[in-house]
Amino acid sequence: MATAENLKAAFAGESQANRMYTAFARRADADGLKQIAKLFRAAAAAETVHALAHFRVMGGVKTTVENLKAAQDGEGYEFKEMYPKFVAESMTEGSRAAEISFKHAMAVEEIHYALYGEALGAAEAGRDLPAASISVCEVCGYTVVGPVPDKCPICGAIRSRFTEVQ
Ligand code: FE2
Ligand code: FE2
Ligand code: FE2
Repeated sequence: MATAENLKAAFAGESQANRMYTAFARRADADGLKQIAKLFRAAAAAETVHALAHFRVMGGVKTTVENLKAAQDGEGYEFKEMYPKFVAESMTEGSRAAEISFKHAMAVEEIHYALYGEALGAAEAGRDLPAASISVCEVCGYTVVGPVPDKCPICGAIRSRFTEVQ
């Protein structure tokens, strides 16, 4: 059925457009083009609406236990298979910026894998995780439950570069 494949392709494209426009908005902001930045952020928000609608129609959202399993599988694939290969290839090709970007992501996906594992244990027992703050390093994506460290253990960024997730 073409529609199932089309939904997958449209979900991927809309998701990517969202992140691309977000990056473009930051550049427009840095250029002092506030209204153009706003337009990029508006379109980015609309692409998120489209991506989520396609994903829902695809049947991508299941129970939270199933969603946690799918999320953990994805993280496991990324840090165990995908990123190690990408890191090795970036090193072979001397692409230092790509190597750092891949290594940051690889380290953080392993942490996500563990955090999803804990969440899965709780959800399977019919519980939520214990209440705690969760913060993300804006430089590398390091995700920390509880107090923010003085220095990011993955990229070395200072604590002011962390954003608490609401
Ligand atoms: Fe769209
Ligand atoms: Fe991740
Ligand atoms: Fe970091």
